[in-house]
Amino acid sequence: MTSSYIEQIEQSIFSAIASAQLPPALAEPVTYALTSGGKRLRPLITVLAAQASGASVESAIPVATAIEILHNFTLVHDDIMDRSPLRRGKQTVYTRWDEATAILAGDTMMGIAYNILSSAYTAPVCQSIVQEFSSAFVEVCIGQAEDLAFRTKPDVTMEEYLGMISRKTARLFATAAVCGGIVAHASAAVLDAFRQFGTSLGIAFQVQDDMLDLFGEPEFGKQRGQDLREGKKTFPVLAATAAVGKEFNGVLRHYLDGQPLTDEVQIEQMAQLCTQCGVIEKARTLTDQHLDRAIAALTDALSPSPARQELIAIANRTRNRRL
Ligand code: IPE
Ligand code: IPE
Ligand code: MG
Ligand code: MG
Ligand code: MG
Repeated sequence: MTSSYIEQIEQSIFSAIASAQLPPALAEPVTYALTSGGKRLRPLITVLAAQASGASVESAIPVATAIEILHNFTLVHDDIMDRSPLRRGKQTVYTRWDEATAILAGDTMMGIAYNILSSAYTAPVCQSIVQEFSSAFVEVCIGQAEDLAFRTKPDVTMEEYLGMISRKTARLFATAAVCGGIVAHASAAVLDAFRQFGTSLGIAFQVQDDMLDLFGEPEFGKQRGQDLREGKKTFPVLAATAAVGKEFNGVLRHYLDGQPLTDEVQIEQMAQLCTQCGVIEKARTLTDQHLDRAIAALTDALSPSPARQELIAIANRTRNRRL
């Protein structure tokens, strides 16, 4: 069932790009960003949330498409901020073209996303969706600003980190689920459950993303250790700091003192230290807690259905994700 939904989302993305009638200088980077192998997790969540609360798949496709475009916009700009050379196993937009092109491609994508929302829904639904979508857009930017600021903050706490990832990543998962509910005219209780589902799933997803940055295989599609070359305060770094304490004298101490890692040897040292500190088990415990919470939110608020089961399956698959 989900592969046909993803097919509909792909079609909708293609027609959104086509209807913008972009010149090649924009059409090429925009198409590249939007069709280079994303998992389409957020739009799938929107479609399934809509269906699980009584709407048709078709009615959710436009907002699902807008959310996937917003997601890809954040990635195009995020790769500039993070100096990332690789995404989905391919060159990032700003390395394949240049920064100016990547900035403009991202801007264009947001125009396309809002255009979809403006024409697909009747007034009250459109208003609620645009409100939810726009506040997610702003909150993701706030989270990204914290992510940048934390690079030069030596004493970031786990609590601050969890707040930051709930904004930069989990908010869009929450909005993806909530917008599905809005399309279905779901009750406030169901919308709350979708928000809880997306938030908890998104937190787990970002903790794993941070782990995969350090421990992932080439199939993950990003440059290994890129977070640590940029001085990011990611889950493994913070969890290792909590385990060994600030007085620890080694690669972690230098890192927290503001010296990002520069080569593979240091990245491997950090990976070994994190492993010795039990970071892999800590990540597993934290992500399992959040994924259990995500699933409980759905089973409490929605009656059983194939769509609810698929949402639960997405959360369960996230436990062992490698991509
Ligand atoms: C990447 O998200 C950004 C994060 C929130 C970690 P995904 O891993 O969902 O990206 P794609 O779209 O599937 O490549
Ligand atoms: C993801 O943060 C959050 C957003 C893109 C908004 P990351 O910087 O960790 O994402 P990746 O690893 O580049 O996909
Ligand atoms: Mg980033
Ligand atoms: Mg990044
Ligand atoms: Mg990352």
